Amino acid sequence: MTSNTSVPPKKLSEMRKDLYLWFKKNGRHELPWRKTENSYQILISEIMLQQTQVERVKPHWENWITKWPNIKSLASAPLNEVINAWSGLGYNRRSVNLHRTAQHIEAQYDSKVPIDEKNLLELPGIGPYTAAAIRCFSANKKAYPADTNITRVIARAFFGLQNSSPDTRKIIQKQLEEIEPSRNFRKHYLALMDLGALLCQSRSPSCDLCPWQNNCHWLERGKPSLQTSKKKSQPFESTTRYARGQIVEHLRTNPTRTTSEIRRLLPSNHKKNTAIYLETLAKEGLIEKNKTGWSLPS
Ligand code: ADE
Repeated sequence: MTSNTSVPPKKLSEMRKDLYLWFKKNGRHELPWRKTENSYQILISEIMLQQTQVERVKPHWENWITKWPNIKSLASAPLNEVINAWSGLGYNRRSVNLHRTAQHIEAQYDSKVPIDEKNLLELPGIGPYTAAAIRCFSANKKAYPADTNITRVIARAFFGLQNSSPDTRKIIQKQLEEIEPSRNFRKHYLALMDLGALLCQSRSPSCDLCPWQNNCHWLERGKPSLQTSKKKSQPFESTTRYARGQIVEHLRTNPTRTTSEIRRLLPSNHKKNTAIYLETLAKEGLIEKNKTGWSLPS
């Protein structure tokens, strides 16, 4: 680490001011989950946003909130309806976890999303980032919802690095604590998130528009890039994720299918693994075995 991390408080305060001015004008205030402080609605948005792009999440989130406006309605919905409503978002396991989470909250917390970190972390599908995001965005709690956008902004501005990495996680966290305001945590983290998503992008950052262009170590150093060997990613169709998605999608539109029918539907490189895929999906609660074959849970 070459950059000096101790930025004087006065400078930090100026940087916050510049960030908030930029955010006021340019932030994504129209995102529907930003117009609410309802912790259930924010929980749904954060689970959907875990692995799915904002634009894709928007209509799903709107439909979901209309269909199941609170924990009670989601907890009592049939699981297959919940899995069906997840269609198009990917990583279907999240839908089963969300249903279990709603049932758990109904049983344990009188249908109110807990705001305590420890209680949130006990819920299926909720890890440290999602717990922090729910606490910060619904209740303005001092929590650190440091997603990849936020950690990239900090890595660049304060450490002159192109990106964050597991090695720099701790110092980035420390820097986040240093630049944090004493209140208005929600605004602060949304502003950092938007700076990363809209300007300080991974591939083609718009430094000339950035409110931190005069304070950024990375820009000052001429935007050095990390010497990483870029892994060649395999085609999506050859991934387990694709095959699993295909099976669930097929069962969304067909009541029951035998193992052979499902094997026939999969591309050749996946056929030999059909039984494993089915057993794993069943173990995760996404599908069920019945007398004649496989279906979504009843
Ligand atoms: N607003 C609140 N949380 C968000 C997230 N995870 N991604 C994008 N915008 C958000």
